[in-house]
Amino acid sequence: MNYITLNNGVKIPQIGLGVFRTPDGADTANAVKWAIEAGYRHIDTAKVYGNEKSVGEGIRMSGIDRRDIFVTTKLWNEDIRQGRTKEAFLQSLEDMGLDYIDLYLIHWPANGYEKAWADMEDLYKAGKIKAIGVSNFNVHHLETLSENWTVVPAVNQIEIHPYYANIENVEYAKKNGIAIEAYSPLGGNGAGTLENEVIIALADKYGKTPAQIVLRWELQRGIIVLPKSTHQERIISNFDVFDFELSDGDMNAINELNKNEKHGSDPETFNF
Ligand code: A2P
Repeated sequence: MNYITLNNGVKIPQIGLGVFRTPDGADTANAVKWAIEAGYRHIDTAKVYGNEKSVGEGIRMSGIDRRDIFVTTKLWNEDIRQGRTKEAFLQSLEDMGLDYIDLYLIHWPANGYEKAWADMEDLYKAGKIKAIGVSNFNVHHLETLSENWTVVPAVNQIEIHPYYANIENVEYAKKNGIAIEAYSPLGGNGAGTLENEVIIALADKYGKTPAQIVLRWELQRGIIVLPKSTHQERIISNFDVFDFELSDGDMNAINELNKNEKHGSDPETFNF
């Protein structure tokens, strides 16, 4: 397992299990437990996913010390708009049954995100969170935050996959010491990246699955990846990506698949 060091010195495992659209209850608790058994030490949830309780349960079921697991959750838009950052954070802690969070993110740049960031800084300075960051922020949102921040976000979590390399945000983050996390690293449902012929040819060449090729491409770009699955064998195989390396030429072949084709919501136009 590889770790990335965030801009405040905290180490984050470069692969985490994503649990977006993983139903609350046994589905989530089992996925988390299977992932930890497979070697994952990083789980990425959000208040709006509605499965924080089961994430906490899965961590406890695994029998691994909570302090050895990196847990991320996110502040939801309605709480941002209503200025309820601290209350929402305490609710997430209670729902997960944890007494601190490793990484807390502003989920979307909803109206009021500047104030939410100041509140997150307070929580961070009070020691309840190991690192704070943002998600779905474009460069101009980060520039706006930078006018008043006293803590630079540790990460920006954004959509990234072979059809959406998200280069501008990745480059900006690199320049500013912000780590990038990829959600939908496999393209999510229906993007078709795992059926792409270049990816399939590389899977044959390296003796790996298309998903492992795509994840490896992201890891070699220095990106933290958050693949989602509720199937145990996929959870296991998505983690089995540390025993091979893509050549520079093959990295470039995947870079060339970029079509700027976004599948998730757009940070400029979202309305939820
Ligand atoms: P499932 O949860 O049924 O396994 P992303 O992480 O990019 O959002 O992609 C998640 C989607 O890809 C889910 O639909 C998930 O389905 C599926 N998926 C996850 N891992 C794999 C894999 N190794 N091979 C094929 N599909 C996968």
